Amino acid sequence: MSDSMKKRVALTADRPTGRLHLGHYIGSLLSRISLQEEYDSFIMVADTQALTDNFEDPGKVIRNIHEVCKDYLAVGIDPSKSTIFIQSCVPELFELTSYYMNLVTVARLERNPTVKAEIQQKGFSDSVPAGFLCYPVSQAADITAFKAELIPVGEDQLPLIEITNEIVRRFNRIYSTEVLLESTAMLGTTQRLVGIDGKAKAGKSLNNAIYLSDAADTIKEKVFSMYTDADHIKVSDPGRVEGNVVFAYLDAFFEDNEELKSLKAQYQNGGLGDTVLKNLLNDTLQAILGPIREKRSAINDGDIDDILFTGSDKAQKIASQTLREVRDAIGINYRG
Ligand code: TRP
Repeated sequence: MSDSMKKRVALTADRPTGRLHLGHYIGSLLSRISLQEEYDSFIMVADTQALTDNFEDPGKVIRNIHEVCKDYLAVGIDPSKSTIFIQSCVPELFELTSYYMNLVTVARLERNPTVKAEIQQKGFSDSVPAGFLCYPVSQAADITAFKAELIPVGEDQLPLIEITNEIVRRFNRIYSTEVLLESTAMLGTTQRLVGIDGKAKAGKSLNNAIYLSDAADTIKEKVFSMYTDADHIKVSDPGRVEGNVVFAYLDAFFEDNEELKSLKAQYQNGGLGDTVLKNLLNDTLQAILGPIREKRSAINDGDIDDILFTGSDKAQKIASQTLREVRDAIGINYRG
């Protein structure tokens, strides 16, 4: 295949610390599904990155590799179009990380707003593991090893892509090469889906998310536990749409915009009850998640390792080619 016919590369990843939820679906999974036709797509299960803050509980990370992979397949990621692989099965990534480590300062890593927020959330304060502080460097290796140009992610990943591009520019300049490519984030339609409790972000660790694999009655329970407007007591009371979790989810998942607009107006004027809204949201989510859950339960567990190992072999070949180019650029390919 000539270079001009080669598809461009899209790559993204998830830390396997739990099953994937609606925030992942709307923030990144939907884009990945649409990209897999047009792009050479790579999806990495970031077990090594997950260990940077779960090193004392590797079992949690290992257990969730299969869960995350099943979530991918259930939403329609097709392993014949997207290469799904495990980070630690591609050790070339960690050698690349070593070379990149020289190209970024500790101060720059400490300034990264995503890492800063995580350090606070995890309570690391003065005892941040070096591996955790440096995971953005290893993420630069994940992206550049595959010459990925498009990264479908949520907005919290923007500072990481920025660091990656800084490393790319420094590497290419210092070693007078064009081996590494810069990349661009592709953001999903809805950023930061709020938690069902109204907290800023739906997350695995906060246990406030609706998971792609939740049972129908769990979904319903979660929808009916959502915060609406504490002052909306009687159906006839005017209600608030801003900050109302049910509307935030309808905004993200209910497709009829006109209908949603009129529901919001009705709610604000008074006369629309929370139960009606919650039923509508429940129906909407059940219609999306039902087929995903069915597809997930039909997956043969025995096939998962096959998919992951085949993908990892393919990924390793590509990463090792890039590593060779990187070593050549630095001038340390002593054996030729
Ligand atoms: N940091 C990402 C997350 O927490 C996971 C990740 C690892 C990633 N390597 C990546 C994302 C490369 C995009 C590209 O979800």
